[in-house]
Amino acid sequence: MGKAARRRHANDGENDSGKALRNGSSYHSRGDRHSGTTESPAGLSPLKLCLLVVTVATGGLVAAYFLNEDAQSVIHSTLLHYGIPDFLQFTGSNPAEDAGQREQTQRQPKKTSYTKSSITNSADKKIRSELDDADSYREKGQIEKAMEKYNAILKRYPKSPRALYGKAENLDKLAEKKQSNTYLEEAIQTFLTVLDLENVPDDLVIQTGRRAAERMNFRGWSAKAVKTLRGLTQRFPQNVALKNELGVAYLMVGKTEEARPVFKAALEIDPKNGFALVHLGFIYKTADNDPAKAIPLLREGINTKAEGTVDGRFYFHLGDSLQRVGQKEEAYEVYKAGADLGLFLSMYQRSLYNVDHLTGRPWWTPEQTTYKKYLKLLEDNWKVIRDEGLAQMDLKSGAFLPEEENLREKGDWKQFTLYQRGQKNKKNCQKVPKTCALIDQIPAAKGCKRGQVKYSVMQPGVHVWPHCGPTNCRIRAHLGLVVPDGPRISVAGQEGKWVEGKFIIFDDSFEHEVWHDGNSFRLVLIVDFWHPELSDHEKANLSPI
Ligand code: LMR
Ligand code: MN
Repeated sequence: MGKAARRRHANDGENDSGKALRNGSSYHSRGDRHSGTTESPAGLSPLKLCLLVVTVATGGLVAAYFLNEDAQSVIHSTLLHYGIPDFLQFTGSNPAEDAGQREQTQRQPKKTSYTKSSITNSADKKIRSELDDADSYREKGQIEKAMEKYNAILKRYPKSPRALYGKAENLDKLAEKKQSNTYLEEAIQTFLTVLDLENVPDDLVIQTGRRAAERMNFRGWSAKAVKTLRGLTQRFPQNVALKNELGVAYLMVGKTEEARPVFKAALEIDPKNGFALVHLGFIYKTADNDPAKAIPLLREGINTKAEGTVDGRFYFHLGDSLQRVGQKEEAYEVYKAGADLGLFLSMYQRSLYNVDHLTGRPWWTPEQTTYKKYLKLLEDNWKVIRDEGLAQMDLKSGAFLPEEENLREKGDWKQFTLYQRGQKNKKNCQKVPKTCALIDQIPAAKGCKRGQVKYSVMQPGVHVWPHCGPTNCRIRAHLGLVVPDGPRISVAGQEGKWVEGKFIIFDDSFEHEVWHDGNSFRLVLIVDFWHPELSDHEKANLSPI
């Protein structure tokens, strides 16, 4: 997929009020690419991940070529990342090439091999030089000339599988050149026509089906892509790569329970298939919350180094699974390996949606943030902010919702979200109008599309697992509102404590862990600010998290 794809996600569940991405839980994957950025994948919760995907992909609202370039590249990488490969890039899966290789190794007795023989039926063989000629114009990017050639062949041989296939590819090129969904749709339709023909060599059926599915995803027709892949897997039940692609297609539309048996079936055929292993492990970890079951699959899958397995999301979830079953040292070995591979910014900074030129440090001073005057504005008004928050807690009106990103080992931790993804929650803000009026004066907080503003209340007994937020694009500030003895936070191994009326400021893309060993609740206002080194252009173009 050259350039398109939906959004991916990462893991800190605490992203937005349950509507956003978390690092690593979802199936999506890398984030957008911005100048020199490493937006990496992490994981959103599968559901959320899928939401993203669906958003981009479906909607029927979003036409692939009508997305802005940035969004397209995100979509593109997402899909690609998820293993819906461009057939041309998919190692070992280009039937034509495979055939060529096979023939070469057998070429003892001198015999000319035709590299496209496995996609060429007997009728096409008779016109192969014409077909090759058209293909070569297409491959050289001479789209108009290639189209003339394909059309000329099709006039005489309307059912030539290779001519139709070539024409479909050519239409796709034309679509890209003209940024036209009409041509894209025609390309998809033409691929489907190939699948309906009789006498199409198996390799060409597979190649065509994959391309059709991939282009459908690009177009936002994920459900159709699933259908196409499902048809292919039924026709070629022993083909593991197709099963993997179908599994990914299900994950991309949020159908984890449909994906699960597909990866299992792939593993029945090929028990060491790395791609299927990491994906099934991912499902055990994120959907079943069963780290012990996920570990061996993620580990074995990653160790294969197979295409699609060397991925931050899988390192992320393997490390997190190990941490949760108490194997800390092993967890850090995995994180270190991930950092060495460039999947993480560092072993402690494991966000997956990153811009790569940003200073990263666990704890920040007000001066370093450049937002000192705004921090002071909120500190000066801390009692107003506290009282509005307390009133909502008293109401038991359901304003505060339990943390739902599976970050807690135990305890009662609730949040009340006022802003997320750069958008004000008007309904919630009506409940705490003075606080929101203050935030409205702070562009870097109210407009922080990769963060939230929220109250957070923790009861005694809470332990929050070590975790990383999804992105390095924000700086997280906590304003102490009600702070008893007992709660503490560690960011990348350095401890901090809340103080009433004061901010503590950290970068939550670094691993952090929270305990509350006291006797009464702790209340803070969490305010995310854009990282001060992001340019206006970056802030305008980054995808929301
Ligand atoms: C976190 O950001 O994970 C926690 O620090 C949130 C909180 O309420 O302390
Ligand atoms: Mn956190």
